[in-house]
Amino acid sequence: MNIVGLSGSLSSPSRTKGLVGAILNEVSSRSGHQTKLIDIADIAQDLGKTFSAENLSPALQKAYQQLETADVLVIGVPVYKASYPGLFKHFFDLIDPKVLEGKVAVIAATGGSDQHALVLEHQLRTLLNFLGVYTAPKTVFAKDADFTNYQVSSADITERIVLVAEQALWLARQHHATPVNTHEIVEPHLGLVASFA
Ligand SMILES: Cc1cc2nc3c(=O)[nH]c(=O)nc-3n(C[C@H](O)[C@H](O)[C@H](O)COP(=O)(O)O)c2cc1C
Repeated sequence: MNIVGLSGSLSSPSRTKGLVGAILNEVSSRSGHQTKLIDIADIAQDLGKTFSAENLSPALQKAYQQLETADVLVIGVPVYKASYPGLFKHFFDLIDPKVLEGKVAVIAATGGSDQHALVLEHQLRTLLNFLGVYTAPKTVFAKDADFTNYQVSSADITERIVLVAEQALWLARQHHATPVNTHEIVEPHLGLVASFA
């Protein structure tokens, strides 16, 4: 199973990167699989001058390849002006809309206060729905006060991370075990009663 994180912050060091890292660690320790992290801050310069997917720098090509091979994604953004950062959205604007279809994702965000926590529901989940990604029902929203030295230090957030990691791995296992287009319901005495093609 390939587990890939994406941190949408332009800052370094970054709380968002710390949060994505903490979720990746939890998913990794529960699944026994290694993880990779794509940091938008590392590719922001290339991203800002790229207007077509035909013309990607080696660093951008590598980031998209890592994303495409993922089974489980951990996507975190900081709230900038009541939304996700523009360069984070630009990263998705350059992507083929089909390549993320069927992947499972945890979504997370950081903000100065709780005021914009619903960015996760009405913006980030909506973007990933459009791209055909199955997002875990629970999300993680962490405020600046939940971090010490850019690492998660709040017990409540740590508890929440366990929940989202469990949900994402449950979703990923269902998806691997029962692909939607081959699922059939068989009743012992009626035989095949339904087939989803
Ligand atoms: C340009 C900018 C705009 C921001 N706008 C908001 C905002 O609208 N709402 C909010 O809750 N926090 C806002 N913040 C605060 C950040 O979301 C918060 O500090 C976050 O933890 C930063 O994450 P980072 O350390 O990964 O950069 C803003 C920060 C910046 C730099």
